[in-house]
Amino acid sequence: MGAIHTTKADGGGSVRRRESQRRQRKEEALTKLFDLTGRIAIVTGSSRGIGRAIAEAFAQHGATVVISSRKAEACAETAAAINAAEGREAAVAIAANISSKAELQRLVDETLRLFGRIDALVCNAASNPYFGPLAGISDDQFRKILENNVIANHWLIQMAAPGMIARKDGSIIIVSSIGGLKGSPMLGAYNISKAADFQLARNLAVEFGKHAVRVNCIAPGLVRTDFARALWENPDTLKAVTATTPLRRIGEPEEIAGAAVYLASPASTFMTGQTIVVDGGATISGG
Ligand SMILES: NC(=O)c1ccc[n+]([C@@H]2O[C@H](COP(=O)([O-])OP(=O)(O)OC[C@H]3O[C@@H](n4cnc5c(N)ncnc54)[C@H](OP(=O)(O)O)[C@@H]3O)[C@@H](O)[C@H]2O)c1
Repeated sequence: MGAIHTTKADGGGSVRRRESQRRQRKEEALTKLFDLTGRIAIVTGSSRGIGRAIAEAFAQHGATVVISSRKAEACAETAAAINAAEGREAAVAIAANISSKAELQRLVDETLRLFGRIDALVCNAASNPYFGPLAGISDDQFRKILENNVIANHWLIQMAAPGMIARKDGSIIIVSSIGGLKGSPMLGAYNISKAADFQLARNLAVEFGKHAVRVNCIAPGLVRTDFARALWENPDTLKAVTATTPLRRIGEPEEIAGAAVYLASPASTFMTGQTIVVDGGATISGG
């Protein structure tokens, strides 16, 4: 910060006043851009990991979040922790397995019953029951990956979108993966499902655009969560990944949350059908 120079004519009081008004305007602009006050958001897979970090960040920015995963108790614990941290009713828990269309319908119906609308939907929960080359995957495993990672997102979006379309206001965010941008010898089916998520977002962005409902993806790189534990706990894999990642490390769940806040907030009202890659530079590195 440079020193504030005063003149005899204005004393220094008016200069300080102008400086403080300028700072206040700056703070207001920053707050407004990323403000989620009064917004209602559903985040699937938010009892832990990336989903929980997104739910916490949404609540910190003023939203009320619905915490959802398969385990009701884990959801209730996360919602209680958010409420305690925020000092208000910032979160409620509604368990739902994304494999079940009926449970997803209940998640949407219950949210609408409690809050009357859904402003932001984060399709974050996903599955990967198979690790290996495509030649060895069973039909059931491939089906499960496509059902949970693509079709369940389609179901939930179709359930939540009508209210957004009617109000001409809503942001849908799909947590995909940088895996969807690459081939892989061991994660082929999962990567195919994540690539389909990019296209799901693009297509729905085209369908919903005239209603001012936006659909975007976030593509994280390797993040320290239970989901990817097998990768980052293996010293050889961790070394290989971080050696070719410009930032030379893997990500933390909180580092994905900012992109979600951006996509749910007024800061991103002209962005739709796109993907934000948050990967420490892994995908742009020549290795
Ligand atoms: N971690 C990474 O390196 C990484 C990288 C790229 C993309 N991603 C993506 O990020 C998203 C979140 O992954 P994460 O790493 O945060 O995983 P995580 O820490 O293992 O958390 C997964 C969350 O999803 C819930 N969940 C799992 N299966 C579910 C189901 N069938 N129905 C409803 N909820 C379910 C889990 O709770 P319950 O067990 O209680 O259901 C938990 O809340 C996924 O889409 C994943 O593909 C992760």
